[in-house]
Amino acid sequence: MEHALQVSILKELMQQLDEGKNIDAGVQYKMPTSSYICPDMAAKEWDSFFQNHPQLIGLSGDLPEPQSFITTDDFGTPILATRDRDGKFHAFLNACRHRGVRVASQPRGRKNLFTCPFHSWSYSGAGELVAIPNEDHFGPVDKSCNGLIELPSIEHNGLLWVHPQPDGDLNIDELLGSLTSEIASHKLGELMHAGGTSIDMNLNWKLANDTFGETYHFQKLHKNTLGQIFYGNNLHFKEFGRHHRFVTASRGIDAMREQPEADWDISRGTFVLYYLFPNIQLVVNSASCTLIKIYPARDNPGRSITQISFYYSQAMIELANAAEANEDIAKVTPDNVYDPDSQADAVQTLAASLEVFSSTIEQEDYVMGEFQQKSAENGLLKEVIFGRNEPALHHFHNSFRGALGLESLEQSD
Ligand code: FES
Ligand SMILES: [Fe+2]
Repeated sequence: MEHALQVSILKELMQQLDEGKNIDAGVQYKMPTSSYICPDMAAKEWDSFFQNHPQLIGLSGDLPEPQSFITTDDFGTPILATRDRDGKFHAFLNACRHRGVRVASQPRGRKNLFTCPFHSWSYSGAGELVAIPNEDHFGPVDKSCNGLIELPSIEHNGLLWVHPQPDGDLNIDELLGSLTSEIASHKLGELMHAGGTSIDMNLNWKLANDTFGETYHFQKLHKNTLGQIFYGNNLHFKEFGRHHRFVTASRGIDAMREQPEADWDISRGTFVLYYLFPNIQLVVNSASCTLIKIYPARDNPGRSITQISFYYSQAMIELANAAEANEDIAKVTPDNVYDPDSQADAVQTLAASLEVFSSTIEQEDYVMGEFQQKSAENGLLKEVIFGRNEPALHHFHNSFRGALGLESLEQSD
């Protein structure tokens, strides 16, 4: 992100804090709770957003070297994604051409050959069918046209994109529009995968997304967790077509008031989050990134699966490994006072804050989401209200409604 933009966002957030104001969209909207439970809408979403839309499956660091692979089943099409011997990214249908068994089952790893567990047909990382056992018994098969079925894939500014349809269009510049260069500026391709977690709970996938749509709740629901790190009740928000940027101040913003603007770094004083339509929340800072992918459970509007992945810079990974090898600095204890100049402390602080972040989502935000889901399913509460201080919710819901050909949300009187 350009430095001048960082400064202007930081200044606006400081002003909001000074004046005790939050962002004001100037309008409230009514939101029908049927959106969270309607099976017809869920079927249309599945078809439009998950089966016929580009899917961000990870970052370049998920495939760190030639012959790395990952698998995913999150959007209904079993995917085997590889980096071949030459370093090229591919995505295949994870289905053997003999009788359809998946050729890789582990979530990630490194392999030069994918051997189907059923009858041991084998495929290269570039998808070629290279071996059929007992081929003289089986009969002839033209290997040149029986490789794994390849799906459109592109590695673009450190992001791994796949289209679930073999003839699908993957124009990421067009998809991200004016956000493309800003995403590129974060150099996400330099980050390494550092772990992750998965949350499977009883809330609609849009309710899961909603928890990333306002800072109004930070000092209430999260007062003992994220509320210790972030101010809450302040927001810088910008739309980019169906996507948006969402920035809120952390306590680190205070130190910047004493520093020259030239030294300001937005990641030291805020939480920068990009929402990428339809289901991605991407939190970036200078040394790490958290990718949150939210999927509906097929045929059940009342359940969703959230995949959270953490990525660190190479320097952070090395420090984290060193910290793990050294018990003295691997422990985060109340006596271990944070020293901003200590790299070991930086690693611990990062790891601890990522842990707080993911457990807060599961134990606080999504618990609210399960209550909201139950209310929606009961049916007596027909509508909820999105306030003037919740513009990311206005934008998220109007974006998906527009994409499904539905009317925009109605203003609340
Ligand atoms: S199904 Fe894969 S080898 Fe038979
Ligand atoms: Fe939250």
